[in-house]
Amino acid sequence: MRLEGKVCIVTGVGAGIGEAIAVRFAEEGARLVLNDIHRPNGQRTLAKVRDAGAAAVLAVADIASEDGARSISEAAIAEFGQIDVVVNNAADFTQKNIEDATLADWHKVFSVNVFGTAMVAKYAIPAMKARRRGSIVNIASMSGVIAQADFATYNASKGAVLTLTRCMAKDLAPWNIRVNTVCPGCVVTSASFREIERMGLTFEQWSSQVAPGHILNRLGEPMEIANPVLFLASDEASFITAEHLMVDGGYVWH
Ligand SMILES: NC(=O)c1ccc[n+]([C@@H]2O[C@H](COP(=O)([O-])OP(=O)(O)OC[C@H]3O[C@@H](n4cnc5c(N)ncnc54)[C@H](O)[C@@H]3O)[C@@H](O)[C@H]2O)c1
Repeated sequence: MRLEGKVCIVTGVGAGIGEAIAVRFAEEGARLVLNDIHRPNGQRTLAKVRDAGAAAVLAVADIASEDGARSISEAAIAEFGQIDVVVNNAADFTQKNIEDATLADWHKVFSVNVFGTAMVAKYAIPAMKARRRGSIVNIASMSGVIAQADFATYNASKGAVLTLTRCMAKDLAPWNIRVNTVCPGCVVTSASFREIERMGLTFEQWSSQVAPGHILNRLGEPMEIANPVLFLASDEASFITAEHLMVDGGYVWH
């Protein structure tokens, strides 16, 4: 069991990649603090991880609010008394080009993806420092390293997550806290279905447009992101920090 006894915070567990990470961590012995802004979806994932045998609590909160971000670590300490791992997975998907994006759009996407990620980590760090160990995995995106038409707001936010990660890794190394990102390619989740609806396409039409962009010529599954996140969270990755792990089926090299 690769996370035996470790207390792991995962944000945005109510769907998609976050749900897969929560379930995978539960299978590996983690004790879980699950966050989502959406209570019913969070409760559904909570039931799944408990079925898998994990001790777990749900912290319903908007990570874009500082009080919300702080409440997640408070729940972890109240329930388990320690924090070993944080996975910053929750995200906003506002995707607009530079001309269409309003200042409110920029605030919305940065509030969750950058400020929320930073605040969730900030309030977990003291508990990690106290134990002189920890692993933080920020979910960025292939979109953080490439240009995509009409994606400026989202891509800029994910680029910021990459730089934030490297700065955090530098600052936290003296306490043996590692900080890395996982950068997914296109993965089938509820976010994909919102995108498909926005574009007015069928799943098949969308998939036949997007899949060939990947060297593997297919879309990813949430569990294919959860497994590399598990690796970086675990002690198997003890000499890896400040790394951006592309899990994108080869998209950026295609
Ligand atoms: N799906 C993809 O193709 C893809 C590709 C690259 C990167 N990613 C990244 O992977 C991560 C997960 O994406 P997904 O596709 O599973 O998304 P999703 O929309 O399917 O699920 C995201 C979950 O986060 C929750 N959430 C949203 N805002 C929140 C907030 N402010 N506070 C707390 N919870 C909040 C939602 O309720 C939802 O349950 C994101 O960081 C995303 O940017 C996804």
